[in-house]
Amino acid sequence: MAKQNRNTGRMASHGNMESDSEPEGMDNALHKLFLAKAAQSNELREALESHLEETEEHISRLEEVFESLDESVKNKTCKAMQGLIAEGDEIVKEQKDSSALDAGIIAACQKVEHYEIATYGTLCAWAEQMGHGEALELLRQTEEEEVTADEKLTEVAETVANQRAQSE
Ligand SMILES: [Fe+2]
Repeated sequence: MAKQNRNTGRMASHGNMESDSEPEGMDNALHKLFLAKAAQSNELREALESHLEETEEHISRLEEVFESLDESVKNKTCKAMQGLIAEGDEIVKEQKDSSALDAGIIAACQKVEHYEIATYGTLCAWAEQMGHGEALELLRQTEEEEVTADEKLTEVAETVANQRAQSE
């Protein structure tokens, strides 16, 4: 069992998209804050700020996952997340004064959410296969919140598109 725990812990740190550098998850969280501040519409700003709070909760939940496996938290650079963050920054720079800024921010954020959903989905499957019930429950909770955040962004995208159409 100890070996199995180590394997899941190792995989969790590889798949840990909240944790892309030290301190754990700060790059992703700070990036959400940066995008929220850049957003033009209140709806988008509020959606990003509320998911930022959830992201902080996800980070502590991941610590609980490691604890449940008797493993210490390991930080690993997540190259995919770094790429998605860089892309979001580029969009903000390029669309800074454009009415398409919010649509660009939403697109960048949804890519992050989809990546998170895919990774948490994989971690849930591994936890289930290895019989780590506690870890599975925690990971599933986060996966569900990521899905809800993505759906919320789709709603905001529709509102933003309608507002743009009305103002043009
Ligand atoms: Fe997320």
